Amino acid sequence: MNPAHSGRTLDEILGAVSDETRETIGVLAELLGNAPTAAASPTEFAIRHLGIDRLQLASTRFTGPSTSLAVLGNLLRLEMERHGDVVTVGSPGDGLPPTWSQLDIGPGEKVAVPGRLVAHFPAGTLAAEPLCVTIDDRHWQREFAILSAAVAKPVAERVLTSFQDRLKTSENPLRGRVLEASVNDGCLRITVSPTPTADRAGLVLPASSWAEIDVFLAAATRRREALRRLGLGTNRGMLVAGPPGVGKTHLVRVIAASLAGDFTTILADANSMRHTLADLYAETDTFGPTLVVLDDIDLVLGHRDGGANDGPLADFLAALDGVRQREDILTIATTNDPRSIDPAAQRSSRFDMVVTLPKPDEASRIKILERHLTPLGLALDIGALAAVLDGATGADVKEVIRRAVLEHGSSFTQAQLVEIAESGRWKAALNRRKYL
Ligand SMILES: Nc1ncnc2c1ncn2[C@@H]1O[C@H](COP(=O)(O)OP(=O)(O)OP(=O)(O)O)[C@@H](O)[C@H]1O
Ligand SMILES: [Mg+2]
Repeated sequence: MNPAHSGRTLDEILGAVSDETRETIGVLAELLGNAPTAAASPTEFAIRHLGIDRLQLASTRFTGPSTSLAVLGNLLRLEMERHGDVVTVGSPGDGLPPTWSQLDIGPGEKVAVPGRLVAHFPAGTLAAEPLCVTIDDRHWQREFAILSAAVAKPVAERVLTSFQDRLKTSENPLRGRVLEASVNDGCLRITVSPTPTADRAGLVLPASSWAEIDVFLAAATRRREALRRLGLGTNRGMLVAGPPGVGKTHLVRVIAASLAGDFTTILADANSMRHTLADLYAETDTFGPTLVVLDDIDLVLGHRDGGANDGPLADFLAALDGVRQREDILTIATTNDPRSIDPAAQRSSRFDMVVTLPKPDEASRIKILERHLTPLGLALDIGALAAVLDGATGADVKEVIRRAVLEHGSSFTQAQLVEIAESGRWKAALNRRKYL
């Protein structure tokens, strides 16, 4: 080596030149039998550790959505830990050190997963043959690949398939959870949200509505195997309609809670409904059976007007159609007014059923009042209160009681409650949109 460079490693010297120059020098050095001391790229690393030349190197790539990549990263971490004493980790390129990213696996729970690195697994660890695994989670460069000798490519393919199969097991920490989809930097972002605890007892609906909902859920529960056996498809879409405050979002919480564990729930926020719905459905491959919740789609989708607003609707319809290639996907969309949604979005192939939640009748209002007032142990004529609240939604009933507690604490009279209900003072707090 030139004495002028003494004391500096080749990587340090190469650090000052462009990527192309560095790559060229690396190849030349290798051809001359003077390989750099640290591999400049995962490819160089693999060639060195697998003991093969460039022409013998095969790459078996995974292509899939970003959450899959992060969960594969988690599996890679587990394998690196399992074979920790013999695994060698190398630079993801440019002589940079390996990087790790955080995978959100629960409220406040994160696990470090490989972000950018390459790892060599000697023979007898991942497979009988030696293999290298490389990962890069930068969204413009996403990659998860197994590098092997060309003759070992079938082995690499088997290992990649087994990694992908493990996504659908309990080794995937996101499976069966409730997730939120939002948009970050133009890309779909998935985070974990607490699983709701809502049950049916807390939501007062007519028996006919529950019966419809049960028919919808049968695709995920008791009729799933029959549908599958008969080739009828296990995907279902339900549109839940009704005026504000009748319990549409509450219903979604009840359904998400009842399916938790077996189904992964993805709650799409307005931006992700608008911009990343196709990506969101693609993510369902990572989660196995999935419930996709599109709350308040009327905020995002109106009638097709042939104008500039066509984009979101066209994308939405295309994304829903894309569901047909998959299995075990339930979609629930909610809307205040089904007529505000383009008929194309309502066609039966997209939503198999429309369930309209009515405002509660008197008997239902009594049940809702009882649910909230009984714990207070007050001497109240609930039947008379239900009559005063004619036309109120479940949300209205709740707001009246909330207002009474705010004004009078946990002890108030029938007259005070009736006065609040008739005054309309409670309405100021209405329409506060709540999500799960
Ligand atoms: N039928 C009902 N039984 C019990 N509680 C109800 C009922 N309807 C509404 N509520 C209560 O009212 C509140 C608001 O309900 P929710 O947010 O589900 O209404 P929504 O139909 O989604 O309204 P929006 O169209 O404004 O989103 C919730 O706390 C819910 O528990
Ligand atoms: Mg709602």
